[in-house]
Amino acid sequence: MKLITSSCILREWVYRDRITLTKNANHPEIAQWMRDGFPSPYSLEDADNFIEMATGGENNQIYLAIDLNGEVVGGIGVRRLGDIYRKTAEIGYWITPANQGRGIVTDAVRAIVPYTFQKLDIIRIEAGVFHTNYASKRVLEKNGFVLEAVHQNAIYKNGQILDECLYVLFPGTTNTGKTPII
Ligand SMILES: CC(C)(COP(=O)(O)OP(=O)(O)OC[C@H]1O[C@@H](n2cnc3c(N)ncnc32)[C@H](O)[C@@H]1OP(=O)(O)O)[C@@H](O)C(=O)NCCC(=O)NCCS
Repeated sequence: MKLITSSCILREWVYRDRITLTKNANHPEIAQWMRDGFPSPYSLEDADNFIEMATGGENNQIYLAIDLNGEVVGGIGVRRLGDIYRKTAEIGYWITPANQGRGIVTDAVRAIVPYTFQKLDIIRIEAGVFHTNYASKRVLEKNGFVLEAVHQNAIYKNGQILDECLYVLFPGTTNTGKTPII
């Protein structure tokens, strides 16, 4: 399965991505905006663990590599929450610093959203963003996500207390981009 966008291809992770993933994920400038589950430094073993999880066949998640000219430059994923939140999926993404600011993750979110509503049995997609992560907020806003809530002092990251901005998208409210699936 591949989702083709105007700037990149989203495709399934494969074992041979491990070296490039290690290289391109290993930046504190990425990790500082992510949950602590995103390793920093990012080792080959971390890449192996991630690829194993991402390709594990779970039907409650979609993890795709952001592929630019055959090289993995980032990742995007959605995961259905559990228990009473099972109709909600959470989205997350990153791209290596050298490729930031080129509209790539905006395209990736635009592509994965309709696919997610089609594949996972959910009625909302949400994203929890550090309140100072202006680039990520823009990516979501450009895809029609709206700010639903600000969770004050909800985040403790690298010794700092931050607010979390919760963005949400419902099916049919936006994101009309048609993405070829092959
Ligand atoms: C957030 C991130 C995924 C964005 O990816 P990207 O491909 O660079 O994003 P895009 O180029 O599609 O769009 C970025 C938007 O943010 C804007 N932006 C970037 N830095 C900004 C800043 N400091 N203040 C305001 N807007 C900013 C860009 O101008 C652009 O908006 P525009 O098209 O209206 O001009 C990328 O910066 C990243 O990987 N960051 C580290 C990991 C991360 O934050 N992940 C998300 C966790 S919620």
